[in-house]
Amino acid sequence: MGFGTKAAGALALALVIGAGAALAQGDVISQRKAAMKAIGDGNRAPAAMLRGEAPFDLSAVQAQLKVIESNATSALKLFPDNSKTGGDTAALPKIWETKADFDAKMTSFVAAAKSAQAKITDEASFKQEFPALLKNCGGCHTDYRARRS
Ligand code: HEC
Repeated sequence: MGFGTKAAGALALALVIGAGAALAQGDVISQRKAAMKAIGDGNRAPAAMLRGEAPFDLSAVQAQLKVIESNATSALKLFPDNSKTGGDTAALPKIWETKADFDAKMTSFVAAAKSAQAKITDEASFKQEFPALLKNCGGCHTDYRARRS
């Protein structure tokens, strides 16, 4: 086997590894977008209840609080250093500049979703607690998510 063949083999291997890394990175971005999208989509029903456009449904609200808790918990692990760009991400570079603050905001979002499950027991407590939980969304997006036109 000549040197050329070996080099070509090494190059091919490097390309395969490189492609794997790119795939993994794209994967984590699509996973966090899917996690956020699940939270956003699931919020439509409680939002309609808050506006009085749908009847209050405690079990639907509780189900969405669990969706938020589990997806926000997953999101904690979906912003690794190698996922700053690509995958049409709206994540801003500031996430990795002040990662401790970002992680703290995500962690308190998880905790808020968890404690809301205990606090929301009827329509009155829902109308009190759910809007407070929603403040977490803007509180993080303002600093860490690019605005889209
Ligand atoms: C601690 C930070 C944080 C909190 C809290 C948070 N988000 Fe996000 N969200 C993000 C970031 C960062 C992105 C951009 C992810 C990307 O594009 O890679 C995002 C993206 C989204 C998206 C777009 C998903 C897509 O399809 O690309 C939706 C919808 C969304 N968030 C809804 C919500 C809602 C609703 C809440 C509150 C109930 C919330 N988020 C709370 C950080 C947060």
